[in-house]
Amino acid sequence: MFGRRTSIAEIAPTRPAPGATPAFRGVSESKKSPPTIIEPSAPPAESTRSDEYYVTKSMIFGALIEAIDLSQLARLDAESAREEIRDIVNEIIAIKNIVMSISEQEDLLEDICNDVLGYGPLEPLLARDEIADIMVNGAMQTYIEVGGKIQLTNVRFRDNAQLMNICQRMVSQVGRRVDEASPICDARLADGSRVNVIAPPLAIDGPVLTIRKFRKDKLTLEQLIRYGCISPEGGEVLKIIGRVRCNVLISGGTGSGKTTLLNCLTNFIDAGERVITCEDAAELQLQQPHVVRLETRPPNLEGTGAVTMRDLVRNCLRMRPERIIVGEVRGPEAFDLLQAMNTGHDGSMGTVHANSPREALSRLESMITMGGFALPIRTIREMLVSSVDVVIQTARLRDGSRRITHITEIMGLEGDVVTTQDLMLYEILGEDASGRIRGKHRSTGIGRPRFWERARYFGEEERLAKALDASEARNEA
Ligand SMILES: Nc1ncnc2c1ncn2[C@@H]1O[C@H](COP(=O)(O)OP(=O)(O)OP(=O)(O)O)[C@@H](O)[C@H]1O
Ligand SMILES: [Mg+2]
Repeated sequence: MFGRRTSIAEIAPTRPAPGATPAFRGVSESKKSPPTIIEPSAPPAESTRSDEYYVTKSMIFGALIEAIDLSQLARLDAESAREEIRDIVNEIIAIKNIVMSISEQEDLLEDICNDVLGYGPLEPLLARDEIADIMVNGAMQTYIEVGGKIQLTNVRFRDNAQLMNICQRMVSQVGRRVDEASPICDARLADGSRVNVIAPPLAIDGPVLTIRKFRKDKLTLEQLIRYGCISPEGGEVLKIIGRVRCNVLISGGTGSGKTTLLNCLTNFIDAGERVITCEDAAELQLQQPHVVRLETRPPNLEGTGAVTMRDLVRNCLRMRPERIIVGEVRGPEAFDLLQAMNTGHDGSMGTVHANSPREALSRLESMITMGGFALPIRTIREMLVSSVDVVIQTARLRDGSRRITHITEIMGLEGDVVTTQDLMLYEILGEDASGRIRGKHRSTGIGRPRFWERARYFGEEERLAKALDASEARNEA
C-alpha cells in the first residue's frame, strides 16, 4: 500500500453528514492549493515521524482551527467531536490536495484529534501503562521512565506555545492556571496522575512538564517481594510493623518507591481503624472502609486561600484520627506529625526525602528548626526518639531497580545523639554481565527489636520471632 500514492480527495467522506449540525464554518473551495506530498514511508509511528510530517500537520492544523467552531465542538461528546474533526481534516486534505497513504492519513487524524481534544503528543505516552514518569523539557525533548530507566523519546510538540497550551489544559481541569504570573503549578489528571508544570521565565528553555503516572494496579507487598525489592522475611517484618501500629517514616530519593511502599504498608492497617491521609496530590489508595482523604490547596491568583500540609495535619488532630498518614513531610508539619505520633496516634506514617535513615532524622530536625519553632535541639531529638519507631529506607539503584535498603529502629538518645539500630540491610554484591545489580537482604542479627513488646501486645510476637529467625538462616544460606 505504501508503494502507491492514493489521492485522499477520492476517499474523503462528503460533508456534512446527514442530519448533523456542523461544528465548523466550512472550508472554502477557493483555498485549494498545490499538492503537498508526504513521502510514503514506514508506518508512521510517533518515533518515525519526519520534519515534513510536522510541517504538513501544522498546515492542516492551522486550517482546521480556522474552520472549526470550538465552542460548538465543546458541546459534543468525545466520540462525536472526534468524528467531527476527522471529517473536517479529511476535507482539508482533499481540498488542499495533499497526497498520503491511508495509514499516514489515519495517523495524522489521530494525532490531530489528540491535539484538539486530548493532551496532544502526550496521549500515546499517557496510554502506556508501563511508563512510570513522563518528563517534557520544552517542546523538543521528552523523556520517559520505564522499568526504572530514563529514556529519550521522539515525541515533540509543534512549539513551546502548543506545549504551554497542553499544560494549561491539564491544570485547568482542577481549577488551576499556569502562566508567566504564576509559573509553578501542581495538579492531578482525571486518572489520578500527578502533574507539575514550571513555565518560563523560571524554566529557561520552555515549559517543563513532569507527570508521575498513576498506576491503576498498585504494587502490593507480595509483588515487591517477588521483584526482590525486599526479602520474604523482610516483607513479613514490614507486615508486622504495619499491623502492630509502629510509627513509621519511609525515607528515600525521588522516585525510589516511597509512596508505593507507604501504600503497601497501609494494607496491614486494621479495617476498624479511623485513618486520615494528608497529601499534596492524592496518590494513596487505602483499602480500608474508614478513611478520610485530605489534600492541600495552593494559593489562588490573588495569593490567598492556600491550605498547607501543616493546616491539614493540625486539623486532623481535631478529627479524632487513630492513624495519620502524611504523603510527604517537607516542612513545619513535621512538628505536628511527631506530636501526633507522640500523643496516642500510634501507627502514623509519613515519607521524607532523604538518602539514609540518619539523614531522614536530621531532615525532620531541620524542618522543625526552620519552621520557626523555638525549641532546643535536644528537645526536638527527644521528640524524635519518643515518636518515630522505625525508618524504612528505599532506593533506586543505578540499574533502575528499586530496593528497600534499611529497616532501622530508633533506639534512644545518648547524650545529644540519636541512636539507631539496623534490623535489615541490603548489601550490594556486584553487577552481572548485563549490568544488573546483584545483592542480598541481610538480617543484622538483632534478636529482639525495640518493638518486640508492641508485637507481643498485638499477638504477633511468635510471627516476628519466626521472621527474624528465617532471615538469620537466609544470611547463612
Ligand atoms: N519496588 C518497585 N518495583 C518496581 N517499580 C516500583 C517499585 N516501587 C515503586 N515503583 C514504581 O516507581 C514509580 C515511583 O514510585 P513512587 O511514586 O512510589 O516513588 P516516590 O519515592 O514516592 O517518588 P516521589 O519522590 O516523586 O514522590 C512508580 O511508577 C511506581 O509504580
Ligand atoms: Mg511519592
